Amino acid sequence: MKIKKQTTLLIIFSILFSFGCNQKTVKNEVNIDKKVDSVLKLMTLEEKIGQLSLFTSDMDQTGAFIRKEYQEDIKKGRVGAIFNAYGAAYTRKLQEMAMNTRMKIPLLFGYDVIHGHRTIFPVPLAEAASWDLAAIELSARVAATEAAAEGLHWTFAPMCDIARDPRWGRVVEGAGEDTYLGSLIAQARVKGFQGNDLAATNTVAACVKHFAAYGAAQAGRDYHSVDMSERMLREVYLPPYQAAIDAGAVTVMTSFNDLNGIPATANRFLMTDILRNEWNFKGFVVTDYTSIMELMFHGVAADTAQASELSILAGVDMDMQSGFYNQELENLVKTGKVTESAIDEAVKRILRVKFQLGLFENPYKYCNEELEKETLMKPEFLESARDVARKSIVLLKNENGILPINKQVKSIAVIGPFADNKRDLIGSWSAAGNWSKSVSLLEGIKAKLPEANVLYARGSNIADDSTQFFAEAVNIAKKADIVILALGEAAYMTGEAASRSSLDLPGVQMQLAQKIYETGKPIAVVLMNGRPLTINWLNEKVPAILETWFLGTQAGNAIADVLFGDYNPSGKLPITFPRAVGQIPIHYNMKNTGRPMDPNNKYSSKYLDISNEPLYPFGFGLSYTQFEYGELSLSKNEISENETLTVKISIKNTGKFKGKEVVQLYIRDLVASVSRPVKELKAFQKIELEAGESKMLEFKISTKELSFYKADMSFGYEKGEFEILIGGNSRDTKNVKFLLK
Ligand code: NOJ
Repeated sequence: MKIKKQTTLLIIFSILFSFGCNQKTVKNEVNIDKKVDSVLKLMTLEEKIGQLSLFTSDMDQTGAFIRKEYQEDIKKGRVGAIFNAYGAAYTRKLQEMAMNTRMKIPLLFGYDVIHGHRTIFPVPLAEAASWDLAAIELSARVAATEAAAEGLHWTFAPMCDIARDPRWGRVVEGAGEDTYLGSLIAQARVKGFQGNDLAATNTVAACVKHFAAYGAAQAGRDYHSVDMSERMLREVYLPPYQAAIDAGAVTVMTSFNDLNGIPATANRFLMTDILRNEWNFKGFVVTDYTSIMELMFHGVAADTAQASELSILAGVDMDMQSGFYNQELENLVKTGKVTESAIDEAVKRILRVKFQLGLFENPYKYCNEELEKETLMKPEFLESARDVARKSIVLLKNENGILPINKQVKSIAVIGPFADNKRDLIGSWSAAGNWSKSVSLLEGIKAKLPEANVLYARGSNIADDSTQFFAEAVNIAKKADIVILALGEAAYMTGEAASRSSLDLPGVQMQLAQKIYETGKPIAVVLMNGRPLTINWLNEKVPAILETWFLGTQAGNAIADVLFGDYNPSGKLPITFPRAVGQIPIHYNMKNTGRPMDPNNKYSSKYLDISNEPLYPFGFGLSYTQFEYGELSLSKNEISENETLTVKISIKNTGKFKGKEVVQLYIRDLVASVSRPVKELKAFQKIELEAGESKMLEFKISTKELSFYKADMSFGYEKGEFEILIGGNSRDTKNVKFLLK
């Protein structure tokens, strides 16, 4: 009774408190809007237009060209934001220039802080493999803390592009192929970057990119066109962007691609109808690098004036790097093609974010050199980076329990172009990360095994065809008890403008692997890469394969933790690994087709020369222990629309190690007004079990998980039969059916 009373009081208190908070937020918003209006009133048209421009500094280069006069632009009040400039002292210097203009409107400093700023965390695709939202949020939190301490206010992240084509180099920047997982990860990243208070000096504004559907670029070729149905757009591609906006992200970046013929940067359907009218987005929209200029290459604008007009009227507030807004908007207003109130709206959105960041109160609040010194690469940040890195590793194969390696091992050969490599470990988009500070695999292994005889040979380069290092590598392999073979692709082969037509290991690395294999020594392959690779031969021949992606500053330590059993791997693939490029697009949630694959029927949906099955399915990843999935049970076999179904399954750790497992729940709608995927991830739980321990897990299913865009494009559910599939990956599942009546 007493407990009940306390609980009731607590509930009332928290309702009142949250009401109080909401009231406060609404009041703050109103206050900010008033302040914004009072600033706007004082501005000339030229000053307003200046706020709509973003230029890069010459400190870093993330696009084709740099505007050398950017400092002159600042002094003239013709720029509202600068990117690629960081450091408390440097940003202070630029901010002072802005403070000497008539309106003294503070500059906003942005940068691509994608997976860490100085302490580099695993690339986003790797972090997604952790399926650990708290870890992903922490990674963004540390990145924001370091970035803000270096004068930055704004990161161009998270990238929320669903990516189903591993040829596209930018799969490395996102959360992989799945909409549900991608949405949760997008939210975790926004929370990590923005924290609870944008005005705090350890948070930065997030930027949801690349809006929209950039990940569907045709043929995996970067910057290419996208043509897709509205159903596919809304069901698969849009939800992660929306999730990030719902989590409070205050800015959005347009994508480079055209969507059904209209480039995103001129796309009013995306930037106004969906973003603002449907999703109620209140922040500002920035273009990607020179995207307004590119409207001319897309062939939708004849000149700079038309390109600017199309963008501003679509709802694009800030011009990154084209300089077209500065050049054209004043005239467009004078000739009546663009109203001044359209300009005002864009300015207001930008000023609002500057107020939210606290820049009007103190434009130098993020330029604190003391704070900068004590914040960057703190030991606790390095520790977090190591932990997130371990969590991101996926064990793809482990025959006869060859891993973990006994620490008493006498001699170990570490071979391959990634064995003593630091340069590539921090991956692409590694912000202000200094690769020379990263821990190589060789260093990590030596630190772990101070007593062992650790031999090293490069074996080959990453991408050329020289076999000059083979003999030495074979020689040391013969002397060792076990070989760690570190293979992969270079960091520059992933990220922007890094599409590949082959997913094979580049150069002569496969030949090197074959040579080492011929020695007959046990081999554990450590892969370093930013996308799925076609590694059929390795999968067939080599007993152990560890997918380590690009793990960042602490890569070598994290991999050594896993290789020698101090950490039991628990990562699961966030993207399908194909057997051959010819299978692409291949993802777990494909349609059944009218002629589902049947090995005995020629006229079924399959290839003549290869199986339909991927090499490793979405959600796949092994552990040093084994998990046994019990039978699935349902609270009912039939539910009505307002009911919730409880699904239970027991999981047992039947192996010898304590371990973590990601238990994944998929749903299939068996008959609907449109054909539905063969399964879709709808929930997961990451659990930890001691050896021998079992746990009963419960999942709740309601119509929310059963909804989709129906034949008439309304969103909702349809009654009928559904299948629930639960497993440790998307292929090996226990299944049960139920009816929605
Ligand atoms: C181009 C990239 O597409 C985008 O992701 C990045 O944020 C900008 N350049 C700025 O560097």
